[in-house]
Amino acid sequence: MKKSYGLIGFPLSHSFSKKYFSNKFLTENIKDCTYELYEIDEIKKVDQIFQIEGLQGLNVTIPYKHDIMAYLDGLDHSAKKVGAVNVVKISAEGHRTGFNSDYYGFRRSLETWLPEVKSYHAMVLGIGGAARAVLAVLEDLHIPTLKVSRDATKGDIDYHELLRRPELLHKHKLIINTTPLGMLPNTDAKPGIDYSQLGKEHFLYDLIYNPAETSFLAEGKKRGAHTKNGLEMLELQAEKSWEIWNS
Ligand SMILES: NC(=O)c1ccc[n+]([C@@H]2O[C@H](COP(=O)([O-])OP(=O)(O)OC[C@H]3O[C@@H](n4cnc5c(N)ncnc54)[C@H](OP(=O)(O)O)[C@@H]3O)[C@@H](O)[C@H]2O)c1
Repeated sequence: MKKSYGLIGFPLSHSFSKKYFSNKFLTENIKDCTYELYEIDEIKKVDQIFQIEGLQGLNVTIPYKHDIMAYLDGLDHSAKKVGAVNVVKISAEGHRTGFNSDYYGFRRSLETWLPEVKSYHAMVLGIGGAARAVLAVLEDLHIPTLKVSRDATKGDIDYHELLRRPELLHKHKLIINTTPLGMLPNTDAKPGIDYSQLGKEHFLYDLIYNPAETSFLAEGKKRGAHTKNGLEMLELQAEKSWEIWNS
């Protein structure tokens, strides 16, 4: 029987997942699988999607990563910890389980890039949707983390305090940008930290993958810091979806 997969969200004008899976099915000669986009303007319409014959799994994107939970039978550790679901697996018996593959994608890419990651202090810039998966991973790895937000009540400190206390940049050598600052088309934008404090002992991870080198990463690189963009995380989270659906 044909196996069906797809993505739900709204709007779905440009989807990385659709391109990723269409290409995967072609290059790996995976037969009888389809990956469709399901743009739904209300979460309750997911009930109709769950009726699709042969449906094995879904990816979930904005704005349904939270609301989808009411339609599931269970959540794995990643989804519980992050508080958001971006992968749903449907078992042969019709049991629906939610996962968060951003958690797995970020964790694997971080541990591969920085095997000694547990010995670092981390600083996370921006406390939004993407930061939740990052913070969940850092907590599970027992990495002390400082949260920087425009609103000090949301994180540990705001950017003004960070500028006043340069020693914080010396202590927290792993700096992760989870803000959209620097993403195309506004490539000149970057988080408001004191880049002159950075050096070759720093590791800058940007969740942005477009452009490949953001101004944030370029400022670090100029001063000898190690840098990594979000492309590997993006690919690993997509591949994790496939692993979940086929395990
Ligand atoms: N590589 C991957 O697999 C992957 C996965 C998910 C997301 N991403 C990327 O991660 C980025 C963030 O995604 P998101 O969904 O979390 O975005 P978002 O919700 O729009 O923004 C995240 C946070 O960034 C901060 N922020 C937003 N605008 C800002 C500004 N003008 N100045 C300073 N801070 C600002 C805010 O935090 P505060 O209010 O706390 O300051 C906001 O909550 C995007 O570029 C996205 O493409 C990549």
